[in-house]
Amino acid sequence: MHDPYKRAVAVVFAFVLSLSPLAEVYAASPEPVEAEHGMVVTAQHLASDIGVDVLKKGGNAVDAAIAVGYALAVAYPTAGNIGGGGFMTIRLKDGKTTFLDFRERAPRASTRTMYLDDKGNPVKGLSTDGYLAVGVPGSVLGFETARTRYGTKSREELMEPAIKLARDGFVLEEGDIASLADGAKKLAKDPAAAAIFFKPDGKPYALGETLVQADLAASLSSISQQGPDAFYKGPIADAIVKASQDGKGILASQDFEQYDVRELEPIKCNYRGYDIFSSPPPSSGGVIICEILNVLEGYPISYLGYGSADTVHVMIEAMRHAYVDRNTALGDPDFVENPIGKLLDKRYAKEIREQISPFKAGVSQELMPKGFGESTETTHYSIIDDEGNAVAVTYTLNGSFGAGVVAPGTGILLNNEMDDFTAKPGVPNLYGLVQGEANAIAPGKTPLSSMSPTIIAKDDKPFMVIGSPGGARIITITLEAIINVIDHGMDIQEAIDAPRIHHQWLPDKVYMEPYALSPDTRRLLAGMGHDIDVDERWTIWGKAAGILVGGKSLADMEQANSEEAGSGRYYGAIDSRAASGAARGY
Ligand code: DON
Repeated sequence: MHDPYKRAVAVVFAFVLSLSPLAEVYAASPEPVEAEHGMVVTAQHLASDIGVDVLKKGGNAVDAAIAVGYALAVAYPTAGNIGGGGFMTIRLKDGKTTFLDFRERAPRASTRTMYLDDKGNPVKGLSTDGYLAVGVPGSVLGFETARTRYGTKSREELMEPAIKLARDGFVLEEGDIASLADGAKKLAKDPAAAAIFFKPDGKPYALGETLVQADLAASLSSISQQGPDAFYKGPIADAIVKASQDGKGILASQDFEQYDVRELEPIKCNYRGYDIFSSPPPSSGGVIICEILNVLEGYPISYLGYGSADTVHVMIEAMRHAYVDRNTALGDPDFVENPIGKLLDKRYAKEIREQISPFKAGVSQELMPKGFGESTETTHYSIIDDEGNAVAVTYTLNGSFGAGVVAPGTGILLNNEMDDFTAKPGVPNLYGLVQGEANAIAPGKTPLSSMSPTIIAKDDKPFMVIGSPGGARIITITLEAIINVIDHGMDIQEAIDAPRIHHQWLPDKVYMEPYALSPDTRRLLAGMGHDIDVDERWTIWGKAAGILVGGKSLADMEQANSEEAGSGRYYGAIDSRAASGAARGY
């Protein structure tokens, strides 16, 4: 703007706007759901209802998480599962935190080159479709481990609502229909999957019709009655192994018999006085969220403002550096040494800041370590109970409806988690992640994940529960929700709904959700050298589920503290991107 008159008008206009109370108002998001005693936020409203019922009947947050986990396996088949795996971060009312890793393991017969042809190139589809893509599932043992160590209710009581949902069916609403339509092509290829997710006449289900899953109900009933052995040692494992053998897979009975859950220490870091607890390896999530937060802590993000070119520039650069570490240094802790101490060190964050120019985009290729050779689905849910026990769960089949196969008679959709490994160093996977040796395939190894179920505490009290699906973007989605609350003062619904940006080192591109950046901000960033792509695939930007404790935003909490200290109210928000989801409280 060169005309001095126009410039003066613009300055006066901006000044007047800054005086108006409207200038303080953020995007038009619905109000978060408010409740006094407990909150359950999931991507499928029936599962949220089931979780709240468990809390009302005196179950704790872990009990509710188990009931929700099984319910989503029925009502949210695109990602809810017992044929996949995931992570559970727990913070108990006494402040103890822990983490359960029930993610898939590579079958014993897997090899590091199993997805390559004889010229050494990855064969398209081999790590994503059909039985060769399937890792040994962990959800059933994960839920049972959570229940026996931290729950209070019987398995039968917690599984009963899911069994009923599968046996009697549930009425399909718009979000459910959209999700089935999304998977239709994949599901139609497998006769056992098609028999469940299409009507007997082969047509897709329509709005208002009822989806019954009789085989799944029977599988769930036998797990409910006999425990995890029904899945890992009984007829269910036998059926999956047989289907795998018939379908050119490599799953064997021993893989199921030997599956084990790991209880691990969560990753912990502190961001501007808030204690963050998140997923350790075999997830990269907690480490990389903390690494990015440590870098951002050195910048006055709140002052620079939400969506400003300055804020977005330092976010991109912090992401660029942290994803190099994600993709080259991390892997299953039973197989590789993860340099967690270094990556979480605030001095390391300072070294990264020293490499970030305030004026110029970095160049990803220059960060390449020496010798370094899509609709998708996961689901996250957040729960807190009356006593302040908090649980964050992210679990998945990896791609939408996983490998798209159901072992006949089981009703159980199987994952395609093997694609999360490095099929070949330097070759991108389903999420465009270019990974290295630390995440190479090995028998019994767990592929590196980005899932980041996160709990935040302030002054030893629960403050926030948060997480999301989104493949490689899970980390930045979760991170952005955190800084939107802590730095930008948004309420939990605004923080989750706000449009997102993402950088993952390679490809050297900034992805932005439509409307995330104004045209002039884009111009400023482009002028610094950032290559920005608008990514309009709305399914790839995640579906976060969050809870704030004590107020719907920081400003609200400060007021509550002065008027009625520690009111302990819960504020829940499901992402507006999650068509079938709901935050439910009581
Ligand atoms: O563990 C991971 O990082 C991936 N398997 C997660 C997949 C995912 O989030 C897909 N959903 N959008």
